[in-house]
Amino acid sequence: MRTDTSDLGTRARLEELREQIRHHDYRYYVLDSPEISDAEYDALFRELRGLEEAYPEFVTPDSPTQRVGGEPLAAFGQVRHAEPMLSLANAKDEHELAAWHARVVKLVSEAGFEPAGLRFTLEPKIDGLAVSLRYEGGRFVTGATRGNGRVGEDVTQNLRTIAALPLSMRPDSDPPPPVVEVRGEVYLPLAAFERFNEQRIAAGEPTFANPRNAAAGSLRQLDPRVTATRPLSMWTYGVGYVEGDLFATQWQVLGWLRERGFRVNPDVRTADTLEELVTVCRDWEARRADLDYDIDGVVIKVDSRRMQVALGTVGRDPRWAVAFKFAPTTAQTRLVRIGINVGRTGTLNPYAVLEPVQVGGVTVGLATLHNEEDILRKDLREGDVVIVQRAGDVIPQVVSPLTDLRDGSERPFRMPEACPSCGTGVVRTPGEVAVRCPNFDCPAKLVETLKHFVSRGAMDIEGVGEKLVQRFFDLGMVRDPADLYHLGYEHLIGLEGFQDKSTRNVLAAIEASKGRSFERVVFALGIPHVGGQTAALIAGRFPSMAELRAAEPETIAAVEGVGPIIAQSVAAYFRDPRNADLVDRLAAAGVRMEAERRAVPPSAGPLTGKTFVLTGVLPTLSREEATALIERAGGRVTGSVSARTDYVLVGDSPGSKLAKAEKLGVALLDEAGLGELLEDG
Ligand code: IVH
Repeated sequence: MRTDTSDLGTRARLEELREQIRHHDYRYYVLDSPEISDAEYDALFRELRGLEEAYPEFVTPDSPTQRVGGEPLAAFGQVRHAEPMLSLANAKDEHELAAWHARVVKLVSEAGFEPAGLRFTLEPKIDGLAVSLRYEGGRFVTGATRGNGRVGEDVTQNLRTIAALPLSMRPDSDPPPPVVEVRGEVYLPLAAFERFNEQRIAAGEPTFANPRNAAAGSLRQLDPRVTATRPLSMWTYGVGYVEGDLFATQWQVLGWLRERGFRVNPDVRTADTLEELVTVCRDWEARRADLDYDIDGVVIKVDSRRMQVALGTVGRDPRWAVAFKFAPTTAQTRLVRIGINVGRTGTLNPYAVLEPVQVGGVTVGLATLHNEEDILRKDLREGDVVIVQRAGDVIPQVVSPLTDLRDGSERPFRMPEACPSCGTGVVRTPGEVAVRCPNFDCPAKLVETLKHFVSRGAMDIEGVGEKLVQRFFDLGMVRDPADLYHLGYEHLIGLEGFQDKSTRNVLAAIEASKGRSFERVVFALGIPHVGGQTAALIAGRFPSMAELRAAEPETIAAVEGVGPIIAQSVAAYFRDPRNADLVDRLAAAGVRMEAERRAVPPSAGPLTGKTFVLTGVLPTLSREEATALIERAGGRVTGSVSARTDYVLVGDSPGSKLAKAEKLGVALLDEAGLGELLEDG
């Protein structure tokens, strides 16, 4: 038997630790503003857990260690809400909101209130799971889902695992009410949702379609230890049954919840007029994409509780509140068929042909489907009813099929074995999800290559867009990018839509494109895996087509930001004589094949203003090292010898550059000579 005095000391320390941990939980999970480091917090928590292990008789149910305690349940019990959980009528646009507002004004006047005293609160409508939390004497006792509004499921054990939920209310000058039902919404933050789905993909488990489903699935786990691993959070926004007459307004309710340690959205607002209501709703809608949680609208409530009582409830919906709904970003429609596009590099890209449907205020008839693997993973079948999503300005996506609505007529997807454009058998590269048409002359690939070449980010040929290159191709006038430069006035004039002026404009635009930067030319070729940024990196290191063509994959891969796959792809591109021929013809047409000036002004040094060309193998320095030394000293390294070259740095087995340098009388240097120059300039 321990002595009373030591027990007293232990109990005091236990209570102190719990107080401190509760305080830090509150700072961290509710206010989002921690005061101590994770390590300091962990130390407090460890001490508490250690003491409670030694003195299990002093463990209290609201101790921070007791969030995950319960055993798995066989089924959820039922909880009768002391006050029913209501739902909300919707206002889907400003007209419906105005109608609701007008009715509220009319009804409160009829009830004898001064309509000028009308005020509203506006709260985000969180797209999660409504819960009711019963506190007795300030302690959390039961928590339940909404259920049918009167009776819900007892998910107390799971709710206890949510760190933003206070197990006991923060003390205040007044004692806590004997009984109060706190109402709020449990949700999964978007970042957590994405991480969670990625983990499920990695584990081969089915993903959740949206954060709401993930939150609902997490809260309805029979084993609270599973729920504890899901990073759920919550916002509170109201009270149900409460003993005592505590609040005159909804605004006071929100303030009280905050003081008592509950998480209340910091952006709740009040408004007095319809105009203000509309402004605040539009504000929320505009900010929607920046939030770390899904909201599907704004909840508008009459602020005065007395007015609320006077307005009353019809059926399930209180007349004193309304949900202003945003345009939905998802919709249901039928997936009519899966089509296939052949991309520039020959990849077969599936896309969804949909029965047109309104999503987020836009009619959507087509959506991307990424690749075969994605379709099979989602089990999308032609004929399925599907969920389509459009977020912000991104391309619409097909999220999932509604498998319950299948009638057996749906057709599972199979990637075609032959290219839909040219009929050539497709190839699958092991380790790659893409399926490709290997035919160099596939019409779809040729046209896509042309479209890419003329596009804004590539050669930017104004007036020559996707439609026009398609026409040129169909008419047999242009087959590859080099053909564009052989178009003459006589070819274009007389084509539909081509007058004298437009013909001259198009020809001038094509001519002007010859002067595009070298990195744009590299990008415009459409080498697989070489995007705009990669093209810039490559052109920075190999400032002429001649050098790039001669480069070994290993040298290309040595460029920072360029991996081995890209390097192989570049080398393979130039190895193909048909590509080499295209590049030769572009060069012959006058397209720039060399970088003109360094984008970054050279640093000042002993070699400032001097131009170098490297040829052959140097005794100790690699080409990269020599280039770096020259550039660091302010010099410039170019690919070919001209009259403007100051020095040619010659190593073993030099190439034709040496002969050219001799012919032009350019100064020759060896590695030692470079060393001297670097020292003296
Ligand atoms: S008040 C007054 N306030 O919306 C009536 N509900 O359709 C009861 N919700 O079941 C709800 N945010 O799940 C209220 N700030 C908020 C809300 C909110 C989300 C949900 C809640 C409720 C549903 C009503």
